[in-house]
Amino acid sequence: MPEDHRYTPPNEMPPAPIHRVLVGQKALVTGASKGLGQAMAIGFAKAGADVLVNYNSDPSGAEETAHEIERAGGKAVLFKADVSKEDEVQAMFAHALKEFGRLDICVPNSAIQLNAPVDEMTLEQWQRVIDVNLTGMFLAARESIRIFKRQGIDRKISYACGKLIFISSVHDVIPWDGHANYAAAKGGLMLLMKSLAQEVAHLRIRVNAISPGAIRTPMNVEKLTTPELFDKLLLKLIPSKRIGEPDDVARLAVWLASDESDYVQGTTVYVDGGMLLYPGFIGAG
Ligand code: BGC
Repeated sequence: MPEDHRYTPPNEMPPAPIHRVLVGQKALVTGASKGLGQAMAIGFAKAGADVLVNYNSDPSGAEETAHEIERAGGKAVLFKADVSKEDEVQAMFAHALKEFGRLDICVPNSAIQLNAPVDEMTLEQWQRVIDVNLTGMFLAARESIRIFKRQGIDRKISYACGKLIFISSVHDVIPWDGHANYAAAKGGLMLLMKSLAQEVAHLRIRVNAISPGAIRTPMNVEKLTTPELFDKLLLKLIPSKRIGEPDDVARLAVWLASDESDYVQGTTVYVDGGMLLYPGFIGAG
C-alpha cells in the first residue's frame, strides 16, 4: 500500500484461518493481478485449489499473485485476456481446461470505473464500462457454465458440478451519482446472476454474487488521498467504522465456493460493514 494511505485504520481482527475446503478444485479468477481478485485467488489456493490467474494490463501483479498461490501450495496458471473480448475469453477457458483438466469455480471479478457527470459522459466511457463490467461477466459465465454442464458432478471433489461467483458491488442497489455507467452495469449484473441461478440450479450449478462495499484496494484508496477525506467521506458511510480488507471478501468467496454453502443459490452476499443500512439515519431519525 502506498505510504500516504497508511493512516487508513487497519482491521483490528487477526485474519481468520482459511480451512482447506477446496482441496482438488480448480478455479479461474478474472482480474486477479490486484485487489479483490488477487486476494480471492490466493484465498482459494490456501483452501487447497489450483488457480488460473487472469490479468489484462498488470503482468507483474499477476506474477505476485502466482507466487503467493505457489507459496500456499497451489498451482498457478497465468493468462492475459481482455474479459470483454469473446475470443480471448474462450481461449482463456480452453487454456484452463488444458492445464487443469476440469473447472470447479469461476469468479468473474474484473471491473473498471470511468466516472463522469452524465452530461459529460462520453459514449466510450459508457460503453467500455458496460463491456467490461457486464458483458465481461456474461462471457465468463457462459463459458464456465458450458464446462460445468459437460463435466457433470464428481462427488469426490464437490457436491456441485460448478460454482459461479460474480463480484458485484453495493452499487447494485445503491445509486451512485457521477458513476451511472458503473451502477447500471452492477444493477444489470444482479439480474444476470439471478436469471442464470434460476436457469442452471437443476444442473447443480451454483450461481451467487458477492457485493463488496469500500475495500482497501487500489481502485478505492487512490481516491481517498487525505485522512480528512477518509474520515469525512468514507467512514461516514460505513456503520462498522472501518474500511474492508481484501481478505474479508476472500474468506467469503472461499465459503461460497465450498460445499459448506451448498444450499445457497441465487443470492447476493453484501460484505460492506453495514453500508446498506442507510447510515445517514444514524442519530438523525
Ligand atoms: C467501488 C468502490 C466504492 C464502493 C462503495 C465499490 O463498488 O469500487 O470504489 O468505494 O463501491 O461506494
